[in-house]
Amino acid sequence: MSQPSAQLENSRQLPLHLPERAPDASENLSEFGREMRAGLSRTVRSVSPKFFYDVEGSALFDRICELPEYYPTRTELQILTDHAADMAAEIGPNAEIIEFGAGSLTKVRLLLDALEAPRRYVPIDISGEHLGAAAERLRADYPELAVQPVVADYTMPLVLPAPGEGAGRRVGFFPGSTLGNFTPDEALSFLQLAARLLRGGGLLLGVDLVKDAALLHAAYNDALGVTAAFNLNLLRRANTELGTDFDLDGFAHAAFYNAPLRRIEMHLISRRAQSVSLGEDVFDFDEGETIHTENSHKFTVDGLRSLAAKAGFVPKAVWTDPARLFSVHWLQAPAAQ
Ligand code: AVI
Repeated sequence: MSQPSAQLENSRQLPLHLPERAPDASENLSEFGREMRAGLSRTVRSVSPKFFYDVEGSALFDRICELPEYYPTRTELQILTDHAADMAAEIGPNAEIIEFGAGSLTKVRLLLDALEAPRRYVPIDISGEHLGAAAERLRADYPELAVQPVVADYTMPLVLPAPGEGAGRRVGFFPGSTLGNFTPDEALSFLQLAARLLRGGGLLLGVDLVKDAALLHAAYNDALGVTAAFNLNLLRRANTELGTDFDLDGFAHAAFYNAPLRRIEMHLISRRAQSVSLGEDVFDFDEGETIHTENSHKFTVDGLRSLAAKAGFVPKAVWTDPARLFSVHWLQAPAAQ
């Protein structure tokens, strides 16, 4: 907390050897540290899933995408492969593609390959390092395409470089059902923001669908324990970056389908009564107490279309796989009146 200015103005009259003000414990913490402290202080403890993705966490997530139980990635890839030509027809020539999150370049490549003369590709991601390398690879393979990465938090209002002369539609690409990791309010806010940014164009959005709970359960409780390692990596990351003393064997991965809220919840459950310190703070856990680490909302096709309409989009085509596990939506963003 900063000192009141009146006190600063009087400082010449104070003794010379004042002890330095003890720093407020939160001052030296990173965003991760501040959110971890706030999350552990809540009665129902929770930490945002955005902190899963350090280098280790991103590598574990890539492994999840390859797991036989984790159907979303390969199902969405199949939908894109099967219907990229129809998507390209909706989008039209000379398009500018804005990808929210650097994502898997495999997915955007399927789209780029089907589009007629795509002009510009703007991947937006918070991690500049990851983004730069991915952009380089894409430039090499698509020499005609202007690849212009933007390092930013795409959930915040953005100003993008103006499209060049003769540019076609501005189209957002948000695959992978990342929308499902937002709270319902956050999902609506993001879509509202996207509808404004993409005025006159549209959004190609991939979301996971409501389905049999057993299938969902298997996808988030894989036999090899990769999802468990991904979840527990949050504590390892906290120990490394924040100096917490989580005992990784003292917490267990739990993932279950919350049917009324249509979401998979991931938690880390304390296996015993224990204490964890973060700087000066000590957090006591009872046996069985959890840290809620992620929600992964599942949608119905109609539910997603209503949400998109509420945000200002006009829902158009929807593509799904034959088993209706996953869906890709073409949402038009009307031009401003
Ligand atoms: C990134 N996101 C859409 C994944 C999901 O399915 O919610 C993250 C994930 N969590 C556990 N497995 C995968």
